[in-house]
Amino acid sequence: MNLNLKGKRVFVSGGTRGIGLAIVKGFLSEGAHVAFSSRNEESIKQITKDLKKEFSDSVLLYFVSDATDPEKTKDVFESIISEWNGLDIVVSNVGDGRSTQEPLQSSEQFESTMRTNLKSAEIIAREFLNGNKTGKGSLLFISSITGLEAFGAPTDYSVAKAAIIALSKNLARKLAPDIRVNCISPGNVYSPGGSWDEKIQKDPERIKKIIDSTVPMKRFGTPEEIADLVLFLSSERASFITGSCVVIDGGQTVGFH
Ligand SMILES: NC(=O)c1ccc[n+]([C@@H]2O[C@H](COP(=O)([O-])OP(=O)(O)OC[C@H]3O[C@@H](n4cnc5c(N)ncnc54)[C@H](OP(=O)(O)O)[C@@H]3O)[C@@H](O)[C@H]2O)c1
Repeated sequence: MNLNLKGKRVFVSGGTRGIGLAIVKGFLSEGAHVAFSSRNEESIKQITKDLKKEFSDSVLLYFVSDATDPEKTKDVFESIISEWNGLDIVVSNVGDGRSTQEPLQSSEQFESTMRTNLKSAEIIAREFLNGNKTGKGSLLFISSITGLEAFGAPTDYSVAKAAIIALSKNLARKLAPDIRVNCISPGNVYSPGGSWDEKIQKDPERIKKIIDSTVPMKRFGTPEEIADLVLFLSSERASFITGSCVVIDGGQTVGFH
């Protein structure tokens, strides 16, 4: 299937590891122009160098920027738009499920989780709309199955991811017909250095048991499987899809709805 992404101008927040990096690579392999961000300067410079080797014809911009900072994010969008004269596709990927396990986190912890997961999405949506000159485009949020049901994930993370689904649906309704807004809800996705990798390092047997007993496909998803869905939903091949929250979880939630 030709996704017609060649030359599309794309921004991905948090693209140096895991799902975000797979999304960046996916768009580059389709010939899109890609801008991406993260906080760690050293790692984003190194990744950019590697990507330029792997995708030698690529058009690639990187930004060292904290997605929870409205001013920095505004600067990122202004730089991209002035460089490329617009932006067609935005993927709000930044998020982090690391929190504490008590039923309700401390107010500080709750606020911090909401900032990383929800505020970053709101800021990106705002800048996407501020910079959108054509009134067209695709905005996609990475939520989680923890935003759909209470699986035992940290409460603050689950609440933030549920709010992202509501943000996505409300924007979809209000921005149709020319701007499409969707979100995806991944299940457990393994990547080296990611949160599941950390859990496996601590107790591999426990994690294997959890995956075997809760995921019908009895395995983790890969970042590339998530990226493929993101590419499709962001492309014109998904032109009638807006306001959707697509679950990609190896069947984990199949008995829940
Ligand atoms: N992995 C899973 O099982 C899973 C499941 C469902 C949903 N998700 C969601 O999928 C998304 C990606 O998860 P992941 O597991 O791939 O994460 P990850 O491996 O921790 O990677 C996160 C990326 O975002 C960057 N980042 C983090 N905070 C940032 C901030 N405040 N500003 C800018 N960049 C930031 C990181 O780089 P720096 O640290 O250098 O900034 C890194 O590039 C998240 O929204 C997560 O909630 C993940």
